[in-house]
Amino acid sequence: MAMNLALFSLFLGVAIVFAIVPTIIGGGYGDEDCGDLLGNDVYKDRCPETEAIIYAGVRLAVFEDPRMAASLLRLHFHDCFGCDASVLLDDNDNFVGEKTAAPNLNSLRGFEVIDAIKQDLEIVCPQTVSCADILAVAARDSVVVSGGPSWDVQMGRKDSFTASKSLANNNIPGPNSTVATLVSKFQNVNLSLKDMVALSGAHTMGKARCTTFTARLQGSTNPNGPEASLEYVQSLQQLCSDSDGNTLANLDLATPATFDNQYYLNLLSGEGLLLSDQNLATGDDQTRELVETYAQDPSAFFEDFKDSMVKMGSLGAVTAMNGEIRRDCRSVN
Ligand code: HEM
Ligand SMILES: *[C@@H]1O[C@H](CO)[C@@H](O)[C@H](O)[C@H]1NC(C)=O
Ligand SMILES: *[C@@H]1O[C@H](CO)[C@@H](O)[C@H](O)[C@H]1NC(C)=O
Repeated sequence: MAMNLALFSLFLGVAIVFAIVPTIIGGGYGDEDCGDLLGNDVYKDRCPETEAIIYAGVRLAVFEDPRMAASLLRLHFHDCFGCDASVLLDDNDNFVGEKTAAPNLNSLRGFEVIDAIKQDLEIVCPQTVSCADILAVAARDSVVVSGGPSWDVQMGRKDSFTASKSLANNNIPGPNSTVATLVSKFQNVNLSLKDMVALSGAHTMGKARCTTFTARLQGSTNPNGPEASLEYVQSLQQLCSDSDGNTLANLDLATPATFDNQYYLNLLSGEGLLLSDQNLATGDDQTRELVETYAQDPSAFFEDFKDSMVKMGSLGAVTAMNGEIRRDCRSVN
């Protein structure tokens, strides 16, 4: 505990220096009230420590639980398709939140990490930084601390007043999805086939429950299924054999805590964990071509992933008119 605290103070110290230096060098005033465009400098004057505090919180959380990087990245994805922190709201008298939607229940993690970061931010700059922006920055930082690329996060999202369980159920594709379904679910929110294949590379980190990849357990014995590595399928069958469905497997067997392009290499050798993953290499020529490109060229993957994350992070971002800055990410003010 003492060690964690000391480390945390160190991170915070370093982080604050990083936050303050650019403010001194930089300059210019953002437009504070008109929030209809996302930008890089929205908190520059009002809360220059924002990114440093979020980075410190992510570092600490991932230090304590290496899987947390994956969980925070996924949390932003499930919030997006409308990046408004609706995913963080607990149920209340007016609505049933998104936490119990099929893709989220017993699955999404990291809510306490976001709470802790929000509490730190509330001390330094009360009611200034939105929960939706915290999610977007934490996702970027999770990639960075795992060895992946960095990018400028556009900020200025507002937090929603409500949440929609049914939208979450309808918008987020399931793990048995065909390429056609994946493409159409992403196209619904203006993300292209290329965005979809690049963003799927997030499955280079983290874990999935047996219940999400039962389709893969049939593996090469399923004549209509995608190619599979027999050895891989057998190892999964063994892992899940006496499981209640909640046993976890690494989405990327080889390097589960590193953000790299290994995921695409796995797909080419028939070792995609989810059927939806494996389908990208086997179910469609266009996606197959991108999988091959990213498998061969890690920097092409990093470049496209960054671009697509920025695109995804701007979806349905709520602006000044119909959102707020929550004090507590779990409830509306
Ligand atoms: C293309 C469609 C996608 C499908 C069908 C899909 C499906 C899933 C499923 C079923 C799991 C395991 C959940 C569980 O066992 O509880 C998972 C985990 C994960 N997903 Fe996706 N996903 C998709 C796209 C994405 C995107 C776009 C991102 C982020 C940019 C992402 C990031 C992650 C991460 C990091 C994990 C591991 C989380 C952890 O270990 O806590 N996924 N995904
Ligand atoms: C997608 O783009 C169309 C046309 O530009 C726009 O009307 C729509 O609101 C966008 N949808 C989302 C979810 O951003
Ligand atoms: C996926 O398909 C398998 C059959 O191949 C089925 O048993 C499983 O319930 C499906 N999973 C989901 C999440 O729909």
